[in-house]
Amino acid sequence: MGIYVIAADGNPEAVGLQYADKVVIVNITSEEDMLRVAREEKIDGVIHPCSEVSMNVMGRLNEELGLSGITKEQAICATNKHLMREAFEKGNAPSPKSILTKSTEDAWEQFMAFDGDGILKPSRNSGSRGIAKVEKGIESKESFVEKYEVALNESRDKSVLIEQFIEGPEFSIEIIVWNGEVNVLTVTDKKTTEAPHFVELGHNQPSCFSDAEVAELKTAAVAGVKALGVDNCACHAEAKLQNGKVYLMEIGARLGGDFISTELVHLSTGIDMVAAAINCALNIAPCLEPTEEKHGVCVRYFCPKPGKLVSISNTEILNDPRVFLWELYHKEGDMIPEVTSSLCRSGHVIVTEETPQKAIELAERLIEKVKMETV
Ligand SMILES: Nc1ncnc2c1ncn2[C@@H]1O[C@H](COP(=O)(O)OP(=O)(O)O)[C@@H](O)[C@H]1O
Ligand SMILES: [Mg+2]
Repeated sequence: MGIYVIAADGNPEAVGLQYADKVVIVNITSEEDMLRVAREEKIDGVIHPCSEVSMNVMGRLNEELGLSGITKEQAICATNKHLMREAFEKGNAPSPKSILTKSTEDAWEQFMAFDGDGILKPSRNSGSRGIAKVEKGIESKESFVEKYEVALNESRDKSVLIEQFIEGPEFSIEIIVWNGEVNVLTVTDKKTTEAPHFVELGHNQPSCFSDAEVAELKTAAVAGVKALGVDNCACHAEAKLQNGKVYLMEIGARLGGDFISTELVHLSTGIDMVAAAINCALNIAPCLEPTEEKHGVCVRYFCPKPGKLVSISNTEILNDPRVFLWELYHKEGDMIPEVTSSLCRSGHVIVTEETPQKAIELAERLIEKVKMETV
């Protein structure tokens, strides 16, 4: 894009640094340190793609330097699951019942008053860390307390929510908000592990669901974005569909991770969502027209059985023109953990095909055929 890029990270080994014109090693969660860097470098815009450790710092920079993008207050709201639920409720965006618990005992009492299953989750974290389903009539108080403690330990602000559990398929909705207009680029279908952890095993675009269901998902996501009040940024909304009704899980006022915004969107819609998000941050009208060919696209993650990885074979089948990208994160001799969060996965493959159905079929076949043997 011809833009001079300064990458900031606390970790001098961070992989992204090599792609920037300039590197600054700094604590990106410190508002004062980041303000100093932003002023010294006379930046024109700031972007915090695909993760949210210091979204509020970005908001502060936007405010102090008069840059395009979300405010600090909006950033706080879009990264705190409790404040987000409150905003959804106020803005009439469809959202499950959610309670900020005061203690383990309080959480248990709230759960006892639920009609159905619940889910415990850290108020501030991501990647499904610390999340666990609790089942009505089955969950013992002892296991409930254990799950609560895990959620509490994983929460950056040491608070835990208990929510009504929404049963059904899961989606994300990829959005660019520009000048108050909420533009939905596409809807993503997700595949996750079962309870208790719901770790994402893959995504496909466009959605394989009916036009009516996709339209419902878009309407709910637009209502959610409006409820958060964010503008001139990318958004990644997550939702579930239960008995034909959409419930928002959460909305990140940023690009989505797991290659969704960075690769799947351009492969399926032809729109460069990353460029659009960068332009929003620079106060330049984003291009929301396709500039490349559209495909059915699917990413699937390798999750071999937990244990010691003794052999990897058959990777040559990934040498297929329909494979856009693949990588294994583990090597022989590594310990494969149980998949309790996104961080425990062992690799990915992204494929393109004529339709999303064909892309899913191909990606799942490749995941099956690459052998990662564990003992
Ligand atoms: N109220 C809920 N009902 C059903 N499933 C939920 C609920 N809240 C979260 N989940 C499941 O847990 C996953 C992670 O929750 P989420 O709020 O998105 O946190 P994270 O920031 O870790 O992604 C969701 O993608 C969904 O599968
Ligand atoms: Mg999420």
